[in-house]
Amino acid sequence: MRIKVLGAAAGGGFPQWNCGCPNCREARAGAPDALPLTQECVGISADGERWFLPNASPEIRSQIESYAPLHPRGPRHSPIAAVVLTNGDLDHTLGILSLRESHPLLIYATERVRQGFTENNVFYRTLMRFPGQVTWRDLVPGRESALDGADGSPTGLSIEAVPTPGKPPVHLEGLEESDPGENIGVLIRDRATGGCLAYFSAAGDITSPMRAALDRADCVFFDGTFWASDELIALGLGTKHAQDMAHLPVGGPDGSLSRLAGLRASRRVYIHINNTNPLLRSGSPERKQVEAGGWKVAQDGMEVSL
Ligand code: MLT
Ligand code: MN
Ligand code: ZN
Repeated sequence: MRIKVLGAAAGGGFPQWNCGCPNCREARAGAPDALPLTQECVGISADGERWFLPNASPEIRSQIESYAPLHPRGPRHSPIAAVVLTNGDLDHTLGILSLRESHPLLIYATERVRQGFTENNVFYRTLMRFPGQVTWRDLVPGRESALDGADGSPTGLSIEAVPTPGKPPVHLEGLEESDPGENIGVLIRDRATGGCLAYFSAAGDITSPMRAALDRADCVFFDGTFWASDELIALGLGTKHAQDMAHLPVGGPDGSLSRLAGLRASRRVYIHINNTNPLLRSGSPERKQVEAGGWKVAQDGMEVSL
């Protein structure tokens, strides 16, 4: 399995358009230890021919152009076999509306995320220009299913959704009851090699079933949004703690770095990094701490092979 990081940042990217925090200022100044990042999007393939994208960022067009294996192989063609949505946040779903040039799309998502994106959404009508423009495949937590391409051909990968503490997207807050399908992590398995990727880019906590799923993986991508719970408050940039936004911080005694210390996976990557996070600075003590724990911080262009 090939895993290509197309974008490693949280919503807003790095630097963020309206942010003058020290990290964003350094990134704009071209500091070598603060490399700009686009918003979270990853390509996954078993054969190098057909690719799955967990999440479709607002920057998907330039992300596709940045990576030759995602370019068309014919006059009308895309190697992108499907998009997998792990929640309905705009930084994960807006890119779907940018893939509207009359090409059939296959999207794997929970029923809740499908409803949240398609119902009462006039923009979605641009993806209904011909019958079958978008096909949705229901991800039912706990059930492993083949990750097939749009034509039903096997791609050598399987997928299993794992309910993960999260929150509804901001635009649906207060409109619906909480639902375990509103945020998931996924296990993606290469059926030939058995290699298993756990992809949890938004996680408000680590439940026992999540931990069991993470322990099955050879490679883990995990929520690296914030280093500290009060990161935005300390910088004077907001009033919410990380957990209020359903992101477990990386640092501290109850953070993910300490709680995931005994993971079996030898490859561990933090992704969906917010622009305020000191992990973005390659020389920071926080970066050294995660690297000492066997973790990498995702960068645009990073590749992992399983
Ligand atoms: C998040 O990761 O918490 C969301 O992307 C926030 C947002 O949608 O603004
Ligand atoms: Mn986000
Ligand atoms: Zn910033």
